[in-house]
Amino acid sequence: MYFNIKSILWNHGFKEKESYKNIYIHLYEAFKKAILNKALGSNIKLPPSRILAKDLDISRSTVLKAYNLLVLEKYVKTVKGSGYYVLSSKDKKIYQKLNSNATTGKYPKLSKRSKAFRKNIYLSSNNSLSKGIAFRPGLPPLDIFPVSKWGGLITNYWRNVRPSELSYSNTIGLECLRKNISTYLKVYRNINCNADQIIITSGSLHSLYLISNSLINKGDEVVIENPTYPRAYDLLNSLNAKIEPTAIDEEGICIAKTTSKNPKFIYTTPSNQYPLGIKMSLNRRCELLEWAREKNAFIIEDDYNHEFSNWENPISSVYSLNNEERVIYLGTFNKLLHPSLRLGYMIVPYYLIDTVKAIYEQSSRFVPPSTQKTMSQFIEKDYLNKHLRNVIAVSKERKEIFTTHFDNFFEGQIQLDNSNTGLHLIGKVKNNHSDELLSETLSQNNIIAHPLSNYFVGSQKQNGLVMGYCSVNNKVIKENIYKMYKVYSDSQKNIPL
Ligand SMILES: Cc1ncc(COP(=O)(O)O)c(C=O)c1O
Repeated sequence: MYFNIKSILWNHGFKEKESYKNIYIHLYEAFKKAILNKALGSNIKLPPSRILAKDLDISRSTVLKAYNLLVLEKYVKTVKGSGYYVLSSKDKKIYQKLNSNATTGKYPKLSKRSKAFRKNIYLSSNNSLSKGIAFRPGLPPLDIFPVSKWGGLITNYWRNVRPSELSYSNTIGLECLRKNISTYLKVYRNINCNADQIIITSGSLHSLYLISNSLINKGDEVVIENPTYPRAYDLLNSLNAKIEPTAIDEEGICIAKTTSKNPKFIYTTPSNQYPLGIKMSLNRRCELLEWAREKNAFIIEDDYNHEFSNWENPISSVYSLNNEERVIYLGTFNKLLHPSLRLGYMIVPYYLIDTVKAIYEQSSRFVPPSTQKTMSQFIEKDYLNKHLRNVIAVSKERKEIFTTHFDNFFEGQIQLDNSNTGLHLIGKVKNNHSDELLSETLSQNNIIAHPLSNYFVGSQKQNGLVMGYCSVNNKVIKENIYKMYKVYSDSQKNIPL
């Protein structure tokens, strides 16, 4: 036993026997309270994760997640080669943090809904974002974005802007951009839609937020793929939807296996199943439409990176196969251009437009017209087309470099699945190794690789690393694969055979 940690945690609200859903959050909360109450004083070393895991009869990755949260929130620091220490209150940041949290009891309780999102702090904290971008999944080649072209267009916008354009703008977006997007979709996706059905948003997640809030009441059934995009799951969970995770086979979601009687919608990624990368077969797309028709449900088609996944082997979108406004199509420029752009769009059935608009007006109101106008010009002047071709060529080259180097170093110890046509590759990790632990160890060495198991809902999971391969240049790819291999080899020494 490492000092009296068990009773300290117990006294601060951690009940190990209870079956918590996210144990690490409860563990983190108990540690936080203990630190704030000074039961764990400055510079105290926390028990090694392995020992605490054993004492509490939980997994080591759970302890590491809790420790990581404490580090991110500056309650604890890591000392390389030594362990985790409670930060001294002399440290300015923790001092401010302690003072601002010491009065937590005086404030109203947070909503249950906010709890569904809390685990995402872990994914997107400033600390983790500052760790670099190799091999963060979902990023395009950021270094080839035509900054000067974009800069020229935006300067031009501000040079010519009229005072009236500085006022409140149309919630659903500028007409010029909506028209250009409908042309773009016709050319690249063979999608026919009216510009007045297109709503400009800040991205696919924002679109999903608006749609879900338009449709879901507590207890309403929704179907999702398993594995899925974790933020989509958390969003639906926060709305208290009754979620049915459905398995994927080599043709896409096994829609025939769903049991939901009265689903509001299915959320799916047919072009490039997220994160497994499977392309839904034409047969399955037709089955899906049939199923939705029968159930009177909507299909939310998240075509988040169709530019990549459909380049060499295009297959009709579910939207284009449908003729009765049953599909809500989500698109984004945050993947093709860069995530800091915050610009996406959706094609919405007429039935939903006013509702979505009302919810939108009540929250973020509209995307800045300067961004919309610049994007519109970017499409009109054919810059988007040129950039798309560059991005495809560079991604292809980087995929080659990544896979060659990865396979040379790892020699099958982590097996790459090359079939993914999106922005990431999956490396299969042996079943007796925890992908969460490996991801955590890599992160401590400034390499990002998300654990595949985190994308699964329920206890049946696959182990793997989800790695973006194209956001950084060839030299950085090579250096980081070497570093990754070293970290991996060192970590193997501690794993029992
Ligand atoms: C499947 C999927 N859909 C949507 C998104 C969100 O995209 P956006 O940045 O446009 O909100 C992501 C981001 O990673 C994603 O992986």
